[in-house]
Amino acid sequence: MASDNRVYVFDTSLRDGEQAPGFSMDPRGKRRLAHQLAELGVDVIEAGFPSASPDDFQAVFGIATEVRGASIAGLARATKGDIEACARAVEKAERPRIHTFISTSPLHRLHKLNMDKGQVLAAAVAAVELARRYVDDVEFSAEDAIRTEPEYLVEIFSAAIAAGARTLNVPDTVGYSTPDEVRELFARLKREVRGAENVIFSCHCHNDLGLAVANSLAALEGGARQVECTVNGIGERAGNAALEELVMALRTRYERYGLVTGIDTTKIYPTSRLLQNITGQQVQRNKAIVGDNAFAHESGIHQHGMLKHRQTYEIMNPEDVGLSKSELVLGKHSGRHALKDRLTRMGYRLEDAETDRVFTAFKALADKKKEIYDADLEAIVLGITGGVTSSYILKSLSIQSATGETRMPTASVRLATPDGREVCEAAVGDGPVDALFRALSRAIGAEITLKSFHIRSISFGSDAQGQATVEAEWNGQEHVGRGTSTDILEASALAYLDVANRLLKVRAREALAAAA
Ligand code: KIV
Ligand code: ZN
Repeated sequence: MASDNRVYVFDTSLRDGEQAPGFSMDPRGKRRLAHQLAELGVDVIEAGFPSASPDDFQAVFGIATEVRGASIAGLARATKGDIEACARAVEKAERPRIHTFISTSPLHRLHKLNMDKGQVLAAAVAAVELARRYVDDVEFSAEDAIRTEPEYLVEIFSAAIAAGARTLNVPDTVGYSTPDEVRELFARLKREVRGAENVIFSCHCHNDLGLAVANSLAALEGGARQVECTVNGIGERAGNAALEELVMALRTRYERYGLVTGIDTTKIYPTSRLLQNITGQQVQRNKAIVGDNAFAHESGIHQHGMLKHRQTYEIMNPEDVGLSKSELVLGKHSGRHALKDRLTRMGYRLEDAETDRVFTAFKALADKKKEIYDADLEAIVLGITGGVTSSYILKSLSIQSATGETRMPTASVRLATPDGREVCEAAVGDGPVDALFRALSRAIGAEITLKSFHIRSISFGSDAQGQATVEAEWNGQEHVGRGTSTDILEASALAYLDVANRLLKVRAREALAAAA
């Protein structure tokens, strides 16, 4: 086993993070993020929950097949079907891990599982034993561990070790605990669980009371050596412990904790941005480590102090988390080499054909926009390597807006349809976006119910690109679509069509399944 001051980072952005409303990722976005997590240096990537759906299975399988440098884990309930599906999904990984779990708290045993302590223990042991037939690396989680009787936790963890588990995870599933309690619990488990010296204890803290990172640090003080976390703290309800906060706390306060991770901290900011781009969900300005204000010093007193000595008001260097001082990168005269070099430094390893397409899109954007920032490049790369292949394609749009009594916002659109036709439609609406969405809905011939719509600027200046995000429902299914353009109405139209195209794909898959 590695030295005792090494903390293993287990990232669950693609599982606990992705299952939270508003954070769904398409398969290519998932793979892109998984590659980036490996570059970041996480030890374990929890790539998904293979038995949740065929799409989840494929996503885990794809990541296990192509991502190298990190262990790839899949989640499985303590059932034969889940474990077998998980084993198949991770089998191509360089280092496959099966992460199996069952609820252990009295509340969950009674109301969720309707099982007694003995039955839960037997199911846990059987699950670990079965998982060990497929892989050496098995993690066992006692869901809702924090609200479980500690003596029962000792018993079930001891049995899980005897059955072959290598990592024991102690989740605070409902984000209820406090740092002192967590520290004491881990110390007790390390003392009392039989075989504790041969395994890694892991914490998995949810943020319902805003304590996920504090509780994870306390778990490390109590003896945990794996932290389960997510980029930007995404996850169920209030989220999971934020990877960037944990890693930077350990690094900045090394003199207190004496612990190290394998994370390349200069990749933290690009990873955070990539996730924001994939999900369309922006972190708040004042988010620790990765928010826009995290390293901004506005007040005169602070600026004065900073000019005299940086450490007066700054405990970390922005460069340490990969926030380059001059984010301004390229302009219309920049060549292919400069672009490729910048993309590599941003952590993108593209194939030549992809670089060519990114370069063409970059040149087109540089004609519209003087200065191209990292965020602009990210949006291009994502559109080219991670986007959904369009079925409806926007050919042109025209919008008229006005204020005052004669106000009648009107939009007309021309689309190429999946079956190769061209359709033109027009509509009036309450505002230009409403008119646009009505015209698109007519052109597609479907009632798409809009749930939410927002738009944000992804770089700087009045010519910045806007990224539109549309959450919508069609035939009872919800999807999120995104579009990026220097014209925010075009970005809105692209986001709307992205939803339509995603729904088309789902329909096509369902039709195939029904025909089979
Ligand atoms: O929060 C939780 O308990 C979980 C487990 C499945 C590990 O996510
Ligand atoms: Zn969780």
